[in-house]
Amino acid sequence: MSYNLLKGKRGIIFGALNEHSIAWKVAERAYEEGAIFTLTNVPIALRMGDTQLLAEKCNTEVIPADAVNLEDLEHLIIRSMEVLGGKLDFILHSIGMSPNVRKGRHYSDLDYDFLAKTLDVSALSFHKVLQTARKLDALNQWSSVLALSYVAAQRTFYGYNDMADAKSLLESIARSFGYIYGRERNVRINTISQSPTPTTAGNGIKMFDSLLDFSERMSPLGNATADECADYCIVMFSDLTRKVTMQNLFHDGGFSSMGMSLRAMEQYNRGNCDEEVDPDHKYD
Ligand SMILES: NC(=O)c1ccc[n+]([C@@H]2O[C@H](COP(=O)([O-])OP(=O)(O)OC[C@H]3O[C@@H](n4cnc5c(N)ncnc54)[C@H](O)[C@@H]3O)[C@@H](O)[C@H]2O)c1
Repeated sequence: MSYNLLKGKRGIIFGALNEHSIAWKVAERAYEEGAIFTLTNVPIALRMGDTQLLAEKCNTEVIPADAVNLEDLEHLIIRSMEVLGGKLDFILHSIGMSPNVRKGRHYSDLDYDFLAKTLDVSALSFHKVLQTARKLDALNQWSSVLALSYVAAQRTFYGYNDMADAKSLLESIARSFGYIYGRERNVRINTISQSPTPTTAGNGIKMFDSLLDFSERMSPLGNATADECADYCIVMFSDLTRKVTMQNLFHDGGFSSMGMSLRAMEQYNRGNCDEEVDPDHKYD
């Protein structure tokens, strides 16, 4: 159902790789709500993924950009304003990647070049997008900029590895830049901390299915889906949330406020918790 919440708004959506991507769902919903926007992704993802198909559905253009490359970002933003016919009203940063996760490096044995790449792609790219947009004065008053985060920024989750550090940095950038851009141009900047979601990036996390199942059971409302995340992003891009900024907004069915559920307690009582599951600490 459409409410025309984004009628007349222009934006850029980063990170739609395939139909499972959270950004894909956001693009579909933004289109339904009357927005016009460009899509972007890193060139290799454009070759391997289905972004072009989405662009056809949303009647728009794909502009390749590596989100860590300032020249690419400058070109992306200038070209987007040309294609869309004016300054922007919203940006979605839906980007995450860790070479340490991909190569199975343990958190206590990180490759630091990989870590630098994780932080650059998954967090600093958000700063780069904001800095480039500000220098080009590309955002209208009361624009809304969002990035996607995960609760591992605040709590430790098995297997999330250096992505936890990247998400902490990402959320901090939203606060620090939110102050500057809010004061100057009323631009609001937030992160949405989403439930585990079965996407290409999500499935890369170690034992992701168990994580998904655990958080489904621990969340009073169950996990939030990618479609539900898209709905939340639409509200955050709309004029209905104009005074929300510098926040990390949990969209997780209540998971982040839970300590222990009855179901988890019963499961705990049934299990053999004294058994050493990983005596050599190979997998922790
Ligand atoms: N899936 C989950 O469980 C989950 C939970 C919370 C938050 N998130 C976050 O949601 C966001 C989107 O991930 P997703 O789950 O939709 O997975 P996804 O794999 O569909 O999307 C990740 C995107 O990042 C893009 N990307 C990687 N490197 C890039 C670069 N250098 N420049 C530009 N784009 C680049 C990929 O091409 C891909 O499109 C990420 O920030 C992720 O951390 C995901």
